[in-house]
Amino acid sequence: MKIVVVGSGGRLGAALLREYRDKYDVAGFNHAQIDLSNLDDVRERLRATNFDLLINAAAFTNVDLCETERDRAFLINAEAPGVLARICREKRAKLIHVSTDYVFDGQKRAPYTEEDEANPISVYGESKLAGEKNVLAAEDRHLVIRVSWVFGPDRPSFIDGIIKRAAQDEEVAAIADKFSAPTYTLDIAEIVGRILDGWSRRAPAPDGLTAGHLQGIMHFANTGRCSWQEYAQWTLDCCHQAGVPVKARTVGALKMKDMANWVARRPVYSVLSAAKYTGLTGTPPRTWRDAVADYITRFYSKK
Ligand SMILES: NC(=O)c1ccc[n+]([C@@H]2O[C@H](COP(=O)([O-])OP(=O)(O)OC[C@H]3O[C@@H](n4cnc5c(N)ncnc54)[C@H](OP(=O)(O)O)[C@@H]3O)[C@@H](O)[C@H]2O)c1
Repeated sequence: MKIVVVGSGGRLGAALLREYRDKYDVAGFNHAQIDLSNLDDVRERLRATNFDLLINAAAFTNVDLCETERDRAFLINAEAPGVLARICREKRAKLIHVSTDYVFDGQKRAPYTEEDEANPISVYGESKLAGEKNVLAAEDRHLVIRVSWVFGPDRPSFIDGIIKRAAQDEEVAAIADKFSAPTYTLDIAEIVGRILDGWSRRAPAPDGLTAGHLQGIMHFANTGRCSWQEYAQWTLDCCHQAGVPVKARTVGALKMKDMANWVARRPVYSVLSAAKYTGLTGTPPRTWRDAVADYITRFYSKK
């Protein structure tokens, strides 16, 4: 099976490319190699490339910038995924398209399932939801995977920012009134890998993941929920435990309303339920605490 990863320079795309390199015939296109805002170029390059499966991990992910660059957000996050979906359909290839918890408005206080109605409150969320719809309208056997608070070794995110700040300062603070669940890129790579194994065998995988199940929308996040403050606190606890040199021990509380530089609205609560994934595989994703602890041990403790 030939796999192409679009967005292979990003946090998730780079992780997918590296994790699959030894196992599959995989090629990546980073932003410089495929620009999703140039749809003619996208069509030309991908039509000339052989593949059975395309994973789209590229997106215009700057939530605040999307507010002021609405057209660009919709071009990259909505129109381009539709083009990718149609190219895949022409080639009889599968598309796995990555989407976000920000399609929800955050009003719920229990994990969002795939059946919950999306109601984005930002341009980023609107454009990502439009992208999901365009993908599935082109071919309902494609798969959209929604993830939340993505972290991993290939590009710094919140967790790396906290470690950096805590290494310099005795005091750090993070938002205490916004909740979701961190999701580790290597865990996403692993579950997508299991999906690929099921597809490539064209038979049910031992864990129950079959091609038939793997279409439409699926949520995947490490289990549990936390605020940014709890996420940061656990990060520091893990650093102290692993001997990573950080000065701060506790994380102060900030409120969303204090974030004067935020342009976009963000959902207060956007925990994704992994119940569908768990039902299909029989195994829940590991907890976000285990995933964070693993990340820090693996990528920070020897630095
Ligand atoms: N990060 C999160 O917390 C989070 C949460 C929920 C869902 N997601 C979703 O997860 C997926 C992966 O995100 P990520 O965390 O890996 O973000 P990321 O590190 O920002 O990666 C996105 C990639 O897309 C590329 N890109 C941007 N505009 C492009 C264009 N016009 N053409 C081609 N490539 C372009 C970026 O390249 P440049 O860097 O060169 O611009 C970057 O390599 C996205 O679909 C995102 O919406 C992310």
